[in-house]
Amino acid sequence: MAKAKTKFVCQECGYVTTSWMGRCPECGNWNTLVEELEVTAKAGAKSYLPTNNEKVKPRTIASVAQTKVERLATGIREFDRVLGGGVVPGSLVLLGGTPGIGKSTILLDAGLRFAQRNIKVLYVSGEESEEQTAMRAVRLGGAQASDRLLIMTATDLDAILTQANNIKPQLLIIDSIQTMYNPELQTAAGSVGQVRECTAKLLQFAKTSGIAVMVIGHVTKDGTIAGPRLLEHMVDVVLQFEGDRSYSFRVLRALKNRFGSTNESGIFSMEAGGLQEVANPAGLFLESRESAVSGSVIGACMEGNRPIMVEFQALVAKTPYGMPRRTAVGFDYNRVNMLLAILERRFGLDFGIYDAYVNVVGGMKVTEPAADLAVAAALVSSHRNRPVPQGVLVFGEVGLTGEVRRVSAPERRIMDGINLGFTKFVVPDSKIELPKDVRVQLVRVKTVEQAMSAIFG
Ligand SMILES: Nc1ncnc2c1ncn2[C@@H]1O[C@H](COP(=O)(O)OP(=O)(O)OP(=O)(O)O)[C@@H](O)[C@H]1O
Ligand SMILES: [Mg+2]
Repeated sequence: MAKAKTKFVCQECGYVTTSWMGRCPECGNWNTLVEELEVTAKAGAKSYLPTNNEKVKPRTIASVAQTKVERLATGIREFDRVLGGGVVPGSLVLLGGTPGIGKSTILLDAGLRFAQRNIKVLYVSGEESEEQTAMRAVRLGGAQASDRLLIMTATDLDAILTQANNIKPQLLIIDSIQTMYNPELQTAAGSVGQVRECTAKLLQFAKTSGIAVMVIGHVTKDGTIAGPRLLEHMVDVVLQFEGDRSYSFRVLRALKNRFGSTNESGIFSMEAGGLQEVANPAGLFLESRESAVSGSVIGACMEGNRPIMVEFQALVAKTPYGMPRRTAVGFDYNRVNMLLAILERRFGLDFGIYDAYVNVVGGMKVTEPAADLAVAAALVSSHRNRPVPQGVLVFGEVGLTGEVRRVSAPERRIMDGINLGFTKFVVPDSKIELPKDVRVQLVRVKTVEQAMSAIFG
C-alpha cells in the first residue's frame, strides 16, 4: 500500500505545511501544528455514512422506526443504567477517567459479563500484556468465562481493525485511545493528530460494521479527556469514571449520551474482586457517624437521579494571624465564602476573626447548590459550638438575600431520609407531596434565620 500523504495544519490560523514545526510561521503560536491525513478525492468519499449514490435515498420515519435496536446489556445494573439500558450496536462509547481509577477493570468486567451472556467481545489493550489482562480477569473471577472473550495486545489500529473484521465480535474494547496509532501518520501515538485520526477510523468502523466500540481515554489534570475536544463531539456516548483514589467508591456518569439520559449515574465500590455495584447508595457515607457533635450536619444531595446523604463538617476557629483562612474540601470554595458573607449580613454572626474550614466526609465532591443550607448549618453549629441533634436532615439552596430556595426532587430526598431513620427535615418552603401515611416532622423554611432556629431549636 502506498504511504498516505500527511500535512501539518495550524489549529489557530489554518496554515498548512509538510513538516512539523514547533511554532507556526504564520500566526506565531507555539504547538498549534497538528498532523492530518491529506484528503484525496477518493479518501474524502470514504465518509462513515454511505455515500454511494444509489444507497442515498429518503425513507419514511415510520419505516425506519420499525427496525428494532437490540441493546447489549452487561447485567451490571449500575453500568447498564448509565448507558440507557445497554450498549447500542454500531455506537462508539468513550470512557474517561484519571489514572488508576479502574477504567480497565470496569470494561474488562463488562467484557466478561458480555461473554457470559454469549456476546462475543474483543478486548484490545495497548497498555498491558495479555498476561496482565488475564491476571485481572482471574481477579474478577471470570477468566474461565468461555471462549467468547478474546484478548489481544496491539497498538497498530489497522492491524486491530483487520482482526476485528475477521473475528466479527459484537463488541470491540480499546484500552486506550492514547496508545493507538495510525501508521499513515508520522507523529507519535497520543498526539492530537493520532487521537483524532484513530477515533475517526473507529467511528467509521463502528458505523459500517454495526459492531459496538468502547474506547478508554485518559484525562488530563483538569479532568478533560486528553486529546482534542472534538473527540467528545465525534463519539455517541461519553462516560466519565470518577472517585477519590483514597476511598473505594466510584461514580460512573454519562456526560453525553445520544441513546439515553445524562441524569443517571452508577455507583460502585472498588473491592479486591473488582468493582461491586452499590444498588442503594443513600446511606453509603453515614456509617461512621455515631453521635451528634458540633460542626457536623447531614445534608441530602442528589447523585444523578438518586439521593445520597452526605455529612458536611465545618470547623470555625479563632485565627492566630491577621488574615482569616477559609478552606473547602469537596465543596466549592467560593460558595463557602458566599455563605459566610450571608451568615454575617443576614444572621449577624461575626466570622471576621475566625478561620473557617469546610469538609465533605468520605471524599465526596458536592457541586449541588442544594447543599448550601447544610454547609451553612455546619458553620453556625461550629461557631456557636452547638451540635445539631441526631436525626435531622437538611437541604436547600441559600440565596444572597438570605432566602432558602427550593431544590429539585424534595420528595425523594425526604423519603430516602425516612428510610435511613431521619425524623426531622428542614427543607425549603415549596410544594412537597408525601404519601399520606408518612408521619415525620417537616419544617418548611423561607429564610436562613428560620432554618437555623428550626435546626437548633
Ligand atoms: N489485587 C487487587 N486487589 C484490590 N484492588 C486492586 C488489585 N489490583 C488492582 N486493584 C485496584 O485497581 C485499580 C487499578 O485499576 P485499573 O488498572 O483498572 O485502572 P485504570 O483506570 O485502567 O488505570 P490506568 O490509567 O493505569 O490504565 C488500582 O488503583 C487498585 O485500586
Ligand atoms: Mg488501564
